[in-house]
Amino acid sequence: MSKVAVVTGGIGGLGTAMCKALIEQGRRAVAVDYNGLKPEAVEKWQADRKAEGLDIPVYLADVTDFGSCAEVCKKIEAEVGPIEILVNNAGITRDAMFHKMTPEQWDAVIKTNLYSIFNMTKQVYEGMVARGWGRIINISSVNGIKGQAGQSNYSATKAAIYGFNKSLAAECAKKGVTVNSISPGYIGTEMVRAIREDVLQKIVATVPIGRLGEPSEIARTVAFLSADDAGLITGEDITVNGGLYYR
Ligand code: CAA
Repeated sequence: MSKVAVVTGGIGGLGTAMCKALIEQGRRAVAVDYNGLKPEAVEKWQADRKAEGLDIPVYLADVTDFGSCAEVCKKIEAEVGPIEILVNNAGITRDAMFHKMTPEQWDAVIKTNLYSIFNMTKQVYEGMVARGWGRIINISSVNGIKGQAGQSNYSATKAAIYGFNKSLAAECAKKGVTVNSISPGYIGTEMVRAIREDVLQKIVATVPIGRLGEPSEIARTVAFLSADDAGLITGEDITVNGGLYYR
C-alpha cells in the first residue's frame, strides 16, 4: 500500500509541487492547509488537480494551534491511513526592518513557521517510531543560514529548524525515522514575488544561476529525502539555492 505523505502548506506554490513529486514517487499525498483559506480557493485547487488527473485530499487546520493539528492528523489517519511522511512546509513572511517590526509580525512568523514544526511532528512521531519507519522533512531557507535584512523573525525560525533536526534525529536514528531539512533559495512563488520589484531584482542579481528557482526543483529534493532508500541521511540539511555561497 502507498505510504501516506502529508504536506503542510500543501496547496501553496511549493506545497503543490511537493504533492505532485510525492505522487510520482508512489506516495498517497495529502495536503494540509490553513483553515482560514477561502473555500473557493481550496475548491479551485482541487479542481485544477483533478484536471491534471490527480486526486489529492485537502484537510484544513491551523498549524499554529496544537489541538487543531491533533484533530487534523487523527482525521487523516482514520480516513487515509497512518502518516509515514511529514513535510513541514507551511510558512509565512512578515518582512520588516527590525526597528519597524511589530510584536504581531514577530509572533505570526514564529508561530506559523516554528510552533507548527512541534505541533505537527508531535502528532505523527510516536506512530512512526512504533512502526519503525518515518520521514520528517522540514522546509527551512537559505535565509536561516545567511540571514537577510528585513527578516529577523523569519530567519530566526528557519535557523531554529537546524537545531530541532539534529536533536530529534539523534533521538530516533535507531528507530528508522529520519529528520532532515531543505533550505531553498529564492523560488518563484507568491511569497517571493511579493517582494518589492526593485528589491527582488537586486536579490536575483546575487544568485549565481541568475534566476529564481522552480518549485519542482525543491519538490524533487523532498522526494529524494523521503525515498525508501534514503534512510542513511538524517539530521542533515540540503541547500537548493542556485549557488548562493554563504558558508
Ligand atoms: N542589506 C542592508 N541594508 C538593506 C538591505 C539589505 N539587503 N535592503 C535594504 N537595506 C537598507 C536600505 O538601503 C535602506 O537604507 P536607507 O534607509 O539608509 O536608505 C533601509 O535598509 C530600508 O530599506 P527599504 O527602503 O527596503 O525599507 P522598507 O521598510 O521599505 O522595506 C523590507 C523593508 C520590506 C524588509 C524590504 O527591504 C524587503 O522586502 N526586503 C527583502 C526581504 C527579503 O529578502 N525577503 C525574502 C522573502 S522570500 C522568502 O523569505 C523565501 C525564502 O526563504 C528565501
